[in-house]
Amino acid sequence: MTERKGISRRGLLGAAGAAVATGVAGYGAHSALAGEESQAADNTGPVEFHGKHQAGIVTPAQDRLHFATFDVTTNKRDAVVSLLKEWTAAAALMTAGRDIGQYGAVNGPAEAPPEDTGEAVGLPPARLTLTIGFGPSFFIDAKGNDRFGIKAKRPAALVDLPHFIGDNLDPNRSGGDIAIQACSDDPQVAVHAIRNLARIGFGTTSVRYSQLGFGRTSSTSRAQSTPRNLFGFKDGTNNLKLEDTDKLEQQLWVQPEDGPDWMVGGSYLVSRRIRMTIETWDRTSLSEQEAIVGRGKGTGAPLGKADEFDAIDFEAKNSEGEPKVAKEAHIRLAHPQFNNGAELLRRGYNFVDGSDGLGRLDAGLFFLAYQRDPRKQFIPIQQQLARSDVMNEYIRHVGSGIFACPGGVPAGSFWGEKLFA
Ligand code: HEM
Repeated sequence: MTERKGISRRGLLGAAGAAVATGVAGYGAHSALAGEESQAADNTGPVEFHGKHQAGIVTPAQDRLHFATFDVTTNKRDAVVSLLKEWTAAAALMTAGRDIGQYGAVNGPAEAPPEDTGEAVGLPPARLTLTIGFGPSFFIDAKGNDRFGIKAKRPAALVDLPHFIGDNLDPNRSGGDIAIQACSDDPQVAVHAIRNLARIGFGTTSVRYSQLGFGRTSSTSRAQSTPRNLFGFKDGTNNLKLEDTDKLEQQLWVQPEDGPDWMVGGSYLVSRRIRMTIETWDRTSLSEQEAIVGRGKGTGAPLGKADEFDAIDFEAKNSEGEPKVAKEAHIRLAHPQFNNGAELLRRGYNFVDGSDGLGRLDAGLFFLAYQRDPRKQFIPIQQQLARSDVMNEYIRHVGSGIFACPGGVPAGSFWGEKLFA
């Protein structure tokens, strides 16, 4: 594959580029007032696209999301392979903060549409990551067809998710042959990336649905502070973190003995669009909210403990002899101790997609979780939560997806090369 160098978005406009750069420095200074100087400085830089694992999984979770799934509209294997090559080249450029194509946004021939749509001109890479995954329908479509000759390569772990109690899934916000997760600290950079990949896909793929997210709802590194979800609770305290290298091999990355070969070093992504009935939640007392989660709202500490990262004591009882962390609290039911040791790397985002016409916010959590085997991790955990979690009174799962995300892309390779080998 020929890799094109692309055009630096920030060098492009000369003096205007410099003005934007000053603006970025101003942003850094503003954030530094909040005492996050080092993080602010890092937030504009690039994240390496190539490597052993795909970026955007253990990468410290960025602040913004644009997630899209695509349906493949061609039956031609060659067309899909060409698209994956073109997407990979574009993804490598965009994550490096460059325009796509040979001429980019403004230097091409005046008669032709620009190769790059241009709204990221002048913006830094802003830690953009692009992560690809393949859904079950990529391997066998709804009619049972093996469109691309890859049916035999479908991983056993890429199961169709079962129906969970309470699921109210909208088919138009579920599934998809291919998913691309764009994360960045700048929403415009994330949107630009998905828009340009969708544009490259015209004639081969169509966007099935897309979801914007703001405000990460997890931390994936111990260097990050724990953010809050729209229930106002710290989220991501007991998450798998990039520093847990041994655990990541056990819980996150597909190992050689798991197979198939093309998935080694990869991971399975489950996406769930979870609507929150915010208005009901907001009329619930503080003590009830804390009992539902099992943690204090201010500190994030497990009930009965003082600090966020204190170990949860599931045996501790209150003066009435009831467990301090209730039997049906979210953190008890989701904890590895009650799920055969299963853990997840959660990487979700808050969303508010306006209101629903009934005076309620269309808001919630776009749940994204990576794992080594969904049959042992997401599925049993969600079955338990769907059955008993007291939080269910305030949430509804309205969209769903499962995707096999291959291992990292070595330089000179492309997304899915081993799958199509
Ligand atoms: C809108 C839906 C959800 C909300 C608001 C929510 C919120 C929370 C909060 C506040 C915590 C405690 C902080 C932490 O340790 O991260 C937590 C923990 C956790 N949640 Fe959720 N969650 C939701 C859905 C889910 C789903 C669907 C799953 C998986 C099927 C899940 C799995 C977990 C796990 C594994 C933990 C860590 C438990 C532990 O080991 O202590 N959550 N969640």
